[in-house]
Amino acid sequence: AETFNGGKIFNANCSACHIGGANILIEHKTLQKAALSKYLENYDIEPIQAIIYQIQNGKGAMPAFKNKLSYQEILEVAAYVFQKAETSW
Ligand code: HEM
Repeated sequence: AETFNGGKIFNANCSACHIGGANILIEHKTLQKAALSKYLENYDIEPIQAIIYQIQNGKGAMPAFKNKLSYQEILEVAAYVFQKAETSW
């Protein structure tokens, strides 16, 4: 149920830039496991926390979502991204 809701949140808020786990603005910074491990700080230590931090605060051209999504929504979409990365989208 959590990742189902996460998928809906992803489609509504993230897929414009990250459809299918891609990155339309910075093409090598995808949401695939290898890219997350390489580019997202602390991903290998605390993957869910690392994704949550990026969603809350944004980075570069990616907007922050902490005033747009609730913490519960951020947690659900982070869990969705992690699960999709683990299964190569
Ligand atoms: C990077 C998730 C929305 C643009 C990332 C990364 C994650 C992420 C986990 C790190 C990927 C990596 O470094 O390989 C999300 C989620 C979103 C979202 C879950 C929705 C809640 C967006 C939107 C845009 C965007 C709407 C475009 C307007 C980017 C860009 C980067 C990025 C440009 C690279 C940032 C940098 O390192 O300079 N995103 N994103 N993201 N995202 Fe998003």
